[in-house]
Amino acid sequence: MSNYLDFIKNERARDYSNKKVSTDFVSQDVAKKVRSIYSEMQEYQKTPLVSLENLSKKLGVGKIWVKDESYRFGLNSFKSLGGIYAIYRTLEEMAGRDISIAEIFSPYFKKTVGELTFSAATDGNHGLGVAWASMKLGQKAVIYLPKGTVPQRIEAIKNTGAKAVVIDGNYDDAVEKMARDGEKEGWQVISDTAWEGYQDIPTWIMQGYTVLFHEAVEQIKQSGGDKPTHIILQAGVGSFSASGVGYFNSIYGKERPISIIVEPDNAACFYESIQINDGKPHRAKGDLSTIMAGLSCGVPNPIAWDIHFDYSDVFVSCRDELSALSMRVLGNPLKGDKKVISGESGAIGLGVLMHIKNELEIGKDSEVLLISTEGDTDPKGYLDVVWGGKFPSELPIM
Ligand SMILES: Cc1ncc(COP(=O)(O)O)c(C=O)c1O
Repeated sequence: MSNYLDFIKNERARDYSNKKVSTDFVSQDVAKKVRSIYSEMQEYQKTPLVSLENLSKKLGVGKIWVKDESYRFGLNSFKSLGGIYAIYRTLEEMAGRDISIAEIFSPYFKKTVGELTFSAATDGNHGLGVAWASMKLGQKAVIYLPKGTVPQRIEAIKNTGAKAVVIDGNYDDAVEKMARDGEKEGWQVISDTAWEGYQDIPTWIMQGYTVLFHEAVEQIKQSGGDKPTHIILQAGVGSFSASGVGYFNSIYGKERPISIIVEPDNAACFYESIQINDGKPHRAKGDLSTIMAGLSCGVPNPIAWDIHFDYSDVFVSCRDELSALSMRVLGNPLKGDKKVISGESGAIGLGVLMHIKNELEIGKDSEVLLISTEGDTDPKGYLDVVWGGKFPSELPIM
């Protein structure tokens, strides 16, 4: 076992006699529908899928694909795919009729729904998507962030005209405070995690994320590939990763890729919940400190938990050094491979692959899909790692 990670296999993931939940809500049809809605936005473009041919040869892996979400809507992370779709669905319900996404952004639409305030809790990326959409709608946004959020992420939110509230607590505290204040103030709460009585919006957010998986499958096919044998997905509250696992299950069923869910060791709520093995989600034991700010969440989204418990194959708890290693490798590729600028939470999948491939028998016949979920959303932190060599690690034997 590598010094940099621990993993646990979920023995029930391949047993279809015991499934509690369906993955239909993140199916291919849902993804198609959401993508067609997004394609009416002028900012919508599919993000690149990079095949790292030379790195895969060096590592002895059949293929390594990296979906580069730093290009998403010019917002430097995938997260807006969820928030914008949830806002669109909220407004559609308010209007009481079918509307197009172009219509909600038209100057006339605001008259239909009046003045609104959207709120979200965030490490930065989800809140930026909600703030950006609110700006485009001509509406207000109030975004709650945990203590210690880097100034650049706060600035990016403020630059949209949104109010940023940095609370004296972590991400989970920010979610609780934002939900309480939102109810008191009558705001439209756009949370990427669910709780009792609050399920629709997080479900829409997860449906929004399916667009990137839909694009990736299409891009793999267009490049002459078939389907990945493995997907490595990073988890904070787990909405993103569960959306991916659910999406692939809904297309391929038992033939779906092996899914590897990755968390920082101080915020490993899914890994620890699988380890406890009582079928329930548990709060992480760690203090959530990690350079992977987007994954610094201690409470699983219950909707995501149900999908992961039923379908996800491997859970990884890993150290920050693996994220730094991945950022450097993606940013300084082997000759002939394309460079990917990938931030702390975005990069982690590659470092995990490098350290886990032998134990999981990932080799020449394996085709691995990684999602670089963010670019350099903390530009100083990015350079500290990539130029300054922060968080060094021993290279795995290649
Ligand atoms: C860049 C990035 N990657 C991955 C995630 C994880 O998403 P989720 O919280 O839905 O698990 C986040 C969450 O904010 C993020 O910002």
